[in-house]
Parts: sequence; C-alpha cells; structure tokens
Amino acid sequence: MISPLEEARLAYRPHLPAALRDGIARVGIEEREADVPDAAIRERFPHTSGRPAVRLVPGPGPLARRPLRVGVVLGGGQAPGGHNVVAGLVDALDGFEPKSTLIGFLGGPKGILTSRYRELPRAAVDPYRNTGGFDLLGSGRDKIETVEQLEACRTTCRSLALDGLVVVGGDDSNTNAATLAEHFLAHGLATAVVGVPKTIDGDMKGGGIEASFGFDTATKVYAELIGNIARDARSAGKYWHFVRLMGRSASHVTLECALRTRPNVALIAEEVEERGQTLAEVVAHVAEVVRRRAEAGRSYGVCLVPEGLIEFVPEMRALIGELNAVLHGEGDTSPETTLAARAAFVRERLPIAQRSTFDSLPPRIREQLLLDRDAHGNVQVSKIDTEALLVDGVAARIGAWKAEGKFPGTFHAQAHFFGYEGRCAAPSNFDADYTYALGHVAAALVAFGRTGYLSAVRGLALPHERWSACAVPLTSLLGMELRKGRSVPVIGKALVRTDGPVFRAFAAERERWAIEDAYLFPGAIQYFGPQEVAGRGPLSLELESASG
Ligand code: FBP
Repeated sequence: MISPLEEARLAYRPHLPAALRDGIARVGIEEREADVPDAAIRERFPHTSGRPAVRLVPGPGPLARRPLRVGVVLGGGQAPGGHNVVAGLVDALDGFEPKSTLIGFLGGPKGILTSRYRELPRAAVDPYRNTGGFDLLGSGRDKIETVEQLEACRTTCRSLALDGLVVVGGDDSNTNAATLAEHFLAHGLATAVVGVPKTIDGDMKGGGIEASFGFDTATKVYAELIGNIARDARSAGKYWHFVRLMGRSASHVTLECALRTRPNVALIAEEVEERGQTLAEVVAHVAEVVRRRAEAGRSYGVCLVPEGLIEFVPEMRALIGELNAVLHGEGDTSPETTLAARAAFVRERLPIAQRSTFDSLPPRIREQLLLDRDAHGNVQVSKIDTEALLVDGVAARIGAWKAEGKFPGTFHAQAHFFGYEGRCAAPSNFDADYTYALGHVAAALVAFGRTGYLSAVRGLALPHERWSACAVPLTSLLGMELRKGRSVPVIGKALVRTDGPVFRAFAAERERWAIEDAYLFPGAIQYFGPQEVAGRGPLSLELESASG
C-alpha cells in the first residue's frame, strides 16, 4: 500500500537534456580542454589524470553495441533523488541494449568489498521511481583506501564482469571512485568507474559541477519547517527558535534556507571564520539582535545555525584539532569506556589553552566532541548541540542585562535540529529530473568506456530543455589534504564564498530581516502546478548563474 502522493509520483516522467532524449545509443562525445593536474596528483594518478572534460551531443553512439553489465552503489548520507539515478541507469541501459544488466551493491561501499548485491531489472526499480531514500539498496560510509580493499573491489567487479561501476556519493565517495578508477586501470581491469555528485550539503560543486543532487529538496523541506516556525513565533510572540541545520562544514544549506525564509539571524560559519570571531563574539552578536527586537516589542525570533559552525570558531577549531591528536594520534590510548570518563582522561592531555576552552563548555558538548569520527576522519557535527550552546550563551548574556535593567523583554528559547527530516523526502521536480539525467550520463560514460569521470549536467538554472549533459575527470577535482596526519588526495568540500553572489544577496538584506518581520513562508514542496512553484531549483543556483 502506498500513499496517494506516491502513487501520483510514480507516474511522473522526468525530463532529460536534449542530447539524451533519443537514448544513449544516439549520443556522441565531444572533448573539451584537457585537465592539467598538479604534480602530486599526476604522480598518484598516472593512468587517469590529464584527461579532457567531455560533453554528450547527438551522435552515432558507442562503436560496439552490446549488452552492458553495470554495478551501482549509493554511498554516504541519503539524498533525495538517489533512486532516480538508478531509474535513469536502468532506462538508459535498457534503451541501449535490452539484455544489459544493472547490479546494485547493498549497504554502500561495503557491498562491493564483500560482494553483496542484487540484480536490478526494471520491475525491481519501478516502484522506487521519484521516491526519496536509498532503501532500494541501502547506503554506508565505508572507505575504500587500503590495497586490500582496492583488491577486494577489483575481485568483485572482475567476477561480475562489470563494464561499469557507478558510485553515487559526495566528496568522500567520489574520492573512493577516483582511487578505484586508477587502481582498476593500473591492474588492467576494464570496468569503467563513474561518479555521480550527491549530497544534501551542497558542498560538492565547482570545477564543472553546478550542484549536488538532494540539496534542492532537502533545503525546501527545511525551509518549509523554518517558515512554519517563524509564523508560530510571530503568532505566539513568546519564543526565540534556534534552528541548527545539517550541511556538515559548509553553510550552503543555511544560506539557501535563509534566502527562502528571511530569518532574523542566520549565522554563516565561513564568515565567522573569516572574521576570526570567537564563540563569545558570535553569542554577543545574536544577543544584540535579541535585545534590539525586544526593544521593538518583539520578544521572539528565528536564528539559523549551520551545524558546522562549531568547527569554524577559531578556539573550537584548535580544540578539535588537539582532541583529534589525543584521540587518534598515537592510537587511542584512552582506557575509558564511558564518555564522561573519557572526557576526564582526554582533558589531562590537552595543552593549557585548549584545556581552558574545553572546561568552558557544558559537559554535554564536551562529550559530544569526543564521539568517534566517521570512517573518513570527519567530526560528527550532526551530533553536537551547537544550537543549545548558543541558547545557553545568549540566555546568560540577557540574564546579565536584565540584572542591570538593560533588557526590556523576555527571552525564552526553543532549540531544533533539522537534518534527517529532509534527506529522504520525495525529490522535488528539479531533483527528480536532475538525477534521472545524471543516471543517463553515467550509463553513457560506461558505454563509451570513459573511466574516472564524474557525471554532470550543466545549465541547471535554465529551463530543462536547455540543460546539457557533460562529465569532468574526477582527478581534476582532487587536491592534497592533511587527513589523520597524512597528506592524501581528496575531493575538497566547496565552502560558502563570502565574496560570492549568494552570500552577497543575503548580506544585503540581513540587517532588515533582523529587526523587521520579513519572514517568507515557502510552504511544502509542490510537485504539481505552475512552473514558479513546482519547477524552480535552488535559489543559490539562480544567483550563481545570473552572476556568470
Ligand atoms: P554526505 O556528505 O554523505 O552526503 O552526508 C551528509 C550529511 O547529512 C551531513 O549533512 C551530516 O553531517 C551527516 O551526513 C550525518 O551523517 P550520518 O548520516 O552518518 O549521521
């Protein structure tokens, strides 16, 4: 039994860029300028670096037309549209050669490592068309980096005789994809490895990638909730709502939601870092807006907080760095099992400056900072209650003002965290179309034997008739970064640029939004109806595209 909306969405036919509409058997590949990699990348990726970017255009199709065998894996956090990548793949392969086989690896990269998979005939994919979630295959965050792991993947792909392996994921998963492509070529395995840019965080862009899929839908879900909360705040007139938003290090999600809802405060972590603001200064800024609104008779408001903020405040960044060193440096020497005992153990080993920052934090935050890093070494910022930390700080400041008779209103706060709520929503029309197209591009790249590429669709701010199908070499996105004390090649996260058009559009208005009630109430995602409510993609994308 499925809901009436799901039923209606099953009938939705996603749109494709013009070059793909007659199927991947009728496309050609046009090569663009070749990538010039830096020496460290060239050295580590001798077989796959220095390739040209490509564009799919109408053409005669691949020379050999034979059934293809393609594997697909969904990696990392869920993002709306993942199922449509799979639907795009199965339809493109079926149109190319009906005897082609699509194989889905189960549970993320671990499925390749352990050879756990299921075949995905069209009938298995059909019920998942235009649905959210990754539940068709499951997902995971396992890293593929050691020689043993790379060899295990090679064995799986060879034994399944795969022509292609499509890795749907964010920066970490696509770093895995780049490494796999190089390893396979170096060891004479013909499986073409192709990436697809996914993440609600919106931080996988640049270098020919305009957006990651899932960002549009997730931010629309959060913006709906924020709008509802703003209206509740204004109706009741008695609460300040502090809303922490997912997005990991980058503040793209917060910025997009701010443009959609016009909150009273939206903190942007990258700006905090650029200004070198301490936690006390961030708190002082928010408290000041609370005070000014109280003076205007408004003891309510909405403050958006990116989950990555904590990593961008200089003293917190230094603390996290020291904690990582103690926890992971010479191996975790902590014999303690409970978090409280671990906190005490680690505290003793911190340098004085970081120990005093650590001591200044509430016990709950101290413990959250000690939680295990993920397989890629990332601090799990989604588990740190930064919004509560800010609420405590603002309340303390206002308490002091009140005692001096300098605060005219009241301050009652409600804390929220929006993250998982948006990751499995049914994809917006934008994400449904975009992901279906990305699946087709990935299938075409496999058919042409192009390995080590990331599927791309360009012109996303234009009507879909004008979208173009492209791909960029994965190695062109790689840079060297220090991870767990070692310099390793990774696809870097694209952070918010404070000199960019999106931040500038926000900065030009935020002072007015702080004091007035300029809230916008975007409402729920619309899947049917006029283009301006059902068809538009991210506002950030429109602003970036308008600025060239
Ligand atoms: P990806 O980078 O894998 O797309 O994940 C995005 C994200 O939702 C982040 O916004 C968040 O910090 C993290 O995943 C949460 O991870 P988990 O699902 O493991 O709790």
